[in-house]
Parts: sequence; C-alpha cells; structure tokens
Amino acid sequence: MVRRGAVICVEGADKVGKSSLALKLSESLSKECFKVEYHKFPKRETLIGTLINGYLSGRNAFNDRAIHLLFSADRWDVSDQMEKQLQSGVTLILDRYAFSGVAYSAAKSTMSFEWCKAPDSGLVKPDLVLYLTASDSVISTRNGFGDEIYESLDFQSKVKAAYETLKDDTWKTIVSERNIDDTLVQVLPLVKETIEKVSSKPIEKLWI
Ligand code: TMP
Ligand code: MG
Repeated sequence: MVRRGAVICVEGADKVGKSSLALKLSESLSKECFKVEYHKFPKRETLIGTLINGYLSGRNAFNDRAIHLLFSADRWDVSDQMEKQLQSGVTLILDRYAFSGVAYSAAKSTMSFEWCKAPDSGLVKPDLVLYLTASDSVISTRNGFGDEIYESLDFQSKVKAAYETLKDDTWKTIVSERNIDDTLVQVLPLVKETIEKVSSKPIEKLWI
C-alpha cells in the first residue's frame, strides 16, 4: 500500500516569512529524499489568479464576497491535483490556504466566520499548520510591506485576531523574527514526525 503524503500548511499575516520558510522546508525535505510539492496560494498566474492579483495590487475592485469566492475557487481549482499527489505519497507544503481565506475576509467585518468557511468546506485538511507571528515593528520594516491592499498594520491586527479563532490542535505557533534557518531547524523535526504519523491515516477534509 502506498503511504499517503502529509499536508503541511504555513500561515500567518503578511511579511512574517511564510514563503521563505515554506520554500526552505520543501528544499530541505527534498534533499532528504521525501517526495514534496510546494503550492502557494493565491496562485496568481492562473486565470483565476490573474483576477486575484489585480485585486491585491489595487488595479481592479471586487465586492468583498466575490473576491472571497475567487480565493476559494483558486484552491478548488488545484484540489484534484493535490489529492492525487497526496495519494501517491507526496507531501504538500502549502504557503497559505483556506485559513488565510477566512482570516482576511472575516477581518473586514462584513462577513461572518461561518459564511467565510463555507466555500472551502471539503478541501483537504492540513495535518499540521505552522502559524508564524512577528511584532508590528518587525513586519512594518520588512521589504515591500505596504505594496498590496491588505498591508496596513491596522488591518493586519484584525487578521491576526481572526487567525486566533481558527486554531486547533494541529496548529503550532512560531515566532518568526530572526533567521529563517533557525526557524527551519525548529520546525523540521515536527514536520517529519507529522509525515510519519499520518502516512497510514485517511486524508481528512476541512470544515465538514
Ligand atoms: P502573498 O502572496 O504575499 O501571500 O499575498 C496574498 C494576499 O492575499 C495576502 O494579503 C493575503 C490575501 N489572501 C486572502 O485575502 N485570501 C486568501 O484566501 C488568500 C490565500 C490570501
Ligand atoms: Mg503579501
């Protein structure tokens, strides 16, 4: 029987170092001969992703609910591919996922958590969520902060509060204010342990 891969998700507010960690994690696992695929959400270069990219850069506007559904559609668009990869033993490293969808939309206060979760219900559920945090003073001085529409400290604090309500026992909070290699050393054993632990377990589904 093929052992399934694990779903490892990196989450957090803007500029906390998610992509750096997720890429290093993928690279490091590949070097150790684990089968790994990296997925960054939103995808940005697909048909749906192009619309999302225009919205984030402020070039086109969308109604709050419409953009929420586009972010979700972006995930559903790769969900079959993700399930196939998992079943063939590939571990998925997700750079943002449905938790971003809910945290950022709920932070707008125009949509309830329940409404925000509904479109992502049934997607594969991450086995481990690495939730990165950093103080406002660290985040606001990181390169590029403020370039996209959600990147203000006021909105980010609402996003962080929304993330708090999504945490369950699969979440591990990591302070990400220093060297990313130190963070990698910190999370790697946990990731490997998770890959081993879930390999013979069924794939779980989110929010059903
Ligand atoms: P990033 O590519 O730098 O991670 O930025 C993506 C932005 O989109 C970030 O501000 C978070 C936001 N976002 C949502 O609002 N909903 C979502 O579902 C996702 C994946 C991201
Ligand atoms: Mg960003």
